[in-house]
Formats: sequence, C-alpha cells, structure tokens
Amino acid sequence: MGFLTFLILPLLLLGISGIIYIYREVVRLMSRSALKNKVVVITDAISGLGKECSRVFHAAGARLVLCGKTWEKLEALHDALISVADPSVTFTPKLVLLDISEVDEIEAIGKEILDCYGCVDVLINNASMKIKGPAQSVTLELDKKIMDANYFGPITLIKAILPHMISRRTGQIVLVNNIQGKLGVPFRAAYAASKHAIQGFFDCLRAEVEEFDVFVSTVSPTFIRSYHVQPEPGNWEASIWKFFFRKLSYGVHPVEVAEEVLRTVSRRKQEVFMPIPSPKPPFMSEPSCRNYFSPWSPPV
Ligand SMILES: NC(=O)c1ccc[n+]([C@@H]2O[C@H](COP(=O)([O-])OP(=O)(O)OC[C@H]3O[C@@H](n4cnc5c(N)ncnc54)[C@H](OP(=O)(O)O)[C@@H]3O)[C@@H](O)[C@H]2O)c1
Repeated sequence: MGFLTFLILPLLLLGISGIIYIYREVVRLMSRSALKNKVVVITDAISGLGKECSRVFHAAGARLVLCGKTWEKLEALHDALISVADPSVTFTPKLVLLDISEVDEIEAIGKEILDCYGCVDVLINNASMKIKGPAQSVTLELDKKIMDANYFGPITLIKAILPHMISRRTGQIVLVNNIQGKLGVPFRAAYAASKHAIQGFFDCLRAEVEEFDVFVSTVSPTFIRSYHVQPEPGNWEASIWKFFFRKLSYGVHPVEVAEEVLRTVSRRKQEVFMPIPSPKPPFMSEPSCRNYFSPWSPPV
C-alpha cells in the first residue's frame, strides 16, 4: 500500500498539473484569439505596465492605438513591437500624443483616437500620476493636478469615446486602478482619493451602460514590480545594488498584470483585485522561469 501510494501519487500530481497547464494554455490562446482585429486604445502605453499591455495585445492581433506623453518613447515602443512581431498576424500600431492631465485638450484627442480606425472596441485607461507625502505638505495645486490626471482626464476621454460604443452597441472600458482605490494608506491621500473617485465613476458607469452591451472593468493590482535599468558593465556598485534589489523585489510582475488585463478584456470580467503574491524562491520569481518573455529589459 505504502509503495503503491509512493508510486501513484507523483503520477497523479503530474497528471493534475499537466491538465492545469493545458487548461491555462487553452484559455490563454482563446483570450488572444478574442482580440484579433479589435481596436484597442492604451493610455500611457509607455509606462512599465503599458508597455507589457501593448506587447500582449499587439501579439494577440489587436489594432492598437498607443497613447503617451513623450513622442520619442512612443516611437521606440512602436519599433520594439514591430521588430519582434509576425507582420502576417499583427497590425502596425498607431501613435497618439496624450498628456492625461491636460483635461482641456482631451476631447480633441478623443476625436483623433476615433479617427485612427473609425471606432474603438476596447479603451484601456492605464495613465495615472503618482504622489507620496504627508497630506498637509501636498499643495492644493498638486492635489488638483493629481485629480486631473487620475480622474478628470480619464473621464473626459471616456465621455469622448462612450457615445460611439453606445451607438454601436458594443465596447469595453477598462481601468487599471490600484488597490488604493478601495483602501487608504498613509502618505498617499491625494493619489488614493483620485483612485477612489475613478473607482466610483466606473462602478456607476458599469450599471449605466450594461444595457447597451458596453462592458466596464477594473483591474486593481496592489504593487507592480518595476523594471530597473541594467548597470553599465564594470559598474560594481550598481551591480551589487541590483543583486540585493532582486532579492528584495516584490509585487506582481508587469507581464502578469498585462496578461490579467488581456483575460479581463476577453472574458469581460468586472472587477479584478491582484494581491501581492506570496514569496517564492528567487529563481521562481524570475519571469523566464514562468514561461514569460519580455523583450523590454531594460525598458525602451
Ligand atoms: N507601480 C505600481 O506599483 C502600481 C500598483 C498598482 C496600480 N498601478 C497602476 O498601474 C498603472 C501603470 O503604472 P506603472 O507603475 O506601470 O507606471 P510607471 O512605470 O511608474 O510609469 C509612470 C508613467 O506615467 C506617465 N505619466 C506621468 N504623467 C503623465 C500624464 N500626465 N499623462 C500621461 N502619462 C503620464 C509617465 O510618462 P513619461 O515617462 O513620459 O513621463 C510614465 O510612463 C497606473 O494606472 C498605476 O496607478 C501601479
């Protein structure tokens, strides 16, 4: 009996993990095929997460409109995307300059975005500004700037694109939010307040536009791991720092969040919360050990 258990249990476990692996791959392929030819807009496509979202949606065959504040960075992203993709199954992305805090300009940019392909199937609101500091030290001017970037800017863009989705009776609006849109933490008052505001807007919008077959989703990570620029060869101080930083790094990898955004879109999930993953041995937390490949390390 003991011997049989010793023999059968590993086989059984291997079978279950094999089935889980195959299931996950099938779901991943189905998620990707659902995005083929869809017009997908990503605001701040050049951020750590924005770049990964651009990569997964581009590889899935979406027609991308990539928005960002800096033209050179957008062009670098564009070149990086087309250099690794198969041109027979992907589309060349279109680029649009967008500073999400310039609220007065956003309506016109919304029109420019719509003009790229004549419609928008998926709008991913990823752009956001961060700030950290004691509430009393943050000037009112800065508080307003954060509200512009994280609330008024995104809702102005949504208001520019939503009527077209409603008239076509199709579309999806996604918000990359933060868990701080639900919970407050010290020294993040302005940021968390703006994230609470946009979360409230999305919750109401979801109930409002469901009858028009427009889907509204929020993805709220806790902490996203940052990319760090590789030290110059021979820069020992930076190499040592990088070694220790790797050991200390935590948070969800941007590739993981981008894959989750893709799943959220293809499965039309409503609300997704991504807690900090439990600690793993360092080699397991390397993306290469988890079937992820990112062409941007260091970022473009
Ligand atoms: N990082 C995290 O731990 C974390 C956790 C939870 C949720 N999130 C959310 O994930 C999303 C992406 O964050 P991230 O960490 O990937 O960003 P990131 O890598 O820290 O980059 C910040 C980005 O914000 C851009 N930006 C700043 N002001 C802007 C403006 N006014 N208009 C347009 N773009 C502007 C910067 O563009 P330039 O480089 O051109 O200045 C840069 O690309 C955000 O919505 C954030 O709230 C992040």
